[in-house]
Amino acid sequence: MRDGKLCVAQIGCGAFAAEQDLPNFQANPRVECTWCCDVNEENARNRARQFGVPKVTTDIMEVMADDEVDFVKVATSHEAHLPIIEAAARTGKHVFCEKPMAMDLREALEIIGIVRRSGIKLCVDLNRRMAPSLHALRARWQAHRANPVTHPWRYVEAIRDPLPDELTSHLLIRIQDDSASYRMIHLDPLRGGGLIIGEMVHWLDLACWWFAPQIPIEVHAWGSTRLTHGINLKFSEGDTATMLFHTGGSFDYPKEMFEVTCRGGFFRNEFFVENQYYGMPGPERETFPLLRDCLPEVGAQGGFAGYMEKYRARVRGLANAKEGHSSLTVDKGWGAMLDGFITAILDDQAPPCDEMAGYLSTYLAQLAIQSITTRQALPVPLERVVFSVI
Ligand SMILES: NC(=O)c1ccc[n+]([C@@H]2O[C@H](COP(=O)([O-])OP(=O)(O)OC[C@H]3O[C@@H](n4cnc5c(N)ncnc54)[C@H](O)[C@@H]3O)[C@@H](O)[C@H]2O)c1
Repeated sequence: MRDGKLCVAQIGCGAFAAEQDLPNFQANPRVECTWCCDVNEENARNRARQFGVPKVTTDIMEVMADDEVDFVKVATSHEAHLPIIEAAARTGKHVFCEKPMAMDLREALEIIGIVRRSGIKLCVDLNRRMAPSLHALRARWQAHRANPVTHPWRYVEAIRDPLPDELTSHLLIRIQDDSASYRMIHLDPLRGGGLIIGEMVHWLDLACWWFAPQIPIEVHAWGSTRLTHGINLKFSEGDTATMLFHTGGSFDYPKEMFEVTCRGGFFRNEFFVENQYYGMPGPERETFPLLRDCLPEVGAQGGFAGYMEKYRARVRGLANAKEGHSSLTVDKGWGAMLDGFITAILDDQAPPCDEMAGYLSTYLAQLAIQSITTRQALPVPLERVVFSVI
């Protein structure tokens, strides 16, 4: 601690550290970043200069030896997570770890053991589950699922009871991405593990959080284990999630859209800035502010249309300068995840996304890869979801 603030060390000072971690530390009054650590000294120095971080190193053990450091933020390539978590646990430092927490099941189980034995707290940055707009969407869906009230003009067949499949909910997650933008690390089988491990864990976790306390019981995936693919996830009370990930798209249109259907209701999230509600009485639309907005005067009506106006204006301004995208950022929950973890450390509570969630998303990603290669739907055995590690 320093001046009543938690001290954090940034380990891995690449693109994500510059776009999210370091700005989010600066914006949070309960934390101060005191180290920039990277095996690439230039990256560490550049980030420290850019964000006014006092100490720089290429050696994580220097960070671990600093008693003032309360937690480390890990934003390295994926294969480095386990040794860094081990080193942090040995010196009693909490860990805020980028996704995926682990690349395979064995690594994930080792991390759970390290966290449990050392007593440190570990939070995995599967941040979509902390996005304010998705929290609002989920609350409306939960209320409707418990007590569906539809518009009076909805036609309902009166001579029969609803069939069981009519009582379930479905979550559709549509990702259109531009694979030309991926850094090599994502595709390297040893350091990144491919897009299902590196990226799809976000939405596998979101689906598990969305339908909790249900647990996933079946994974059916198709497509490529490297880039474009789809996954269907079935939950224990019959609800389902379908995730469609296509990599031939364009950043000119938002990457993520979410839609939920449930008993005559339709719930839609447009890229974290607008929710729409159909089929039921009550508000039809809610808008959400951006996390960072460099063009507040453009698209002042807000919501999706407002965001697109800002985006087009921003891109026009960037025609000759390929930087600064992060100054127009929708709120995908990164700041709330950081703040939730700070509260967990200070008040000795469970982190908002713990090592079990990190494990489950990696396990489901591995099952999806297996489902694609065997062309089969695969069960998720209960003992792989609920277990004890010593
Ligand atoms: N939560 C999100 O929304 C989100 C978005 C983008 C990226 N990420 C995650 O952030 C992480 C970093 O991604 P990036 O795009 O910044 O990659 P990057 O390649 O730009 O940066 C990684 C940095 O880590 C450094 N590094 C590698 N191994 C190290 C080690 N052992 N010790 C110290 N430094 C080490 C590299 O030198 C590099 O500077 C990845 O895990 C990625 O999945 C998360």
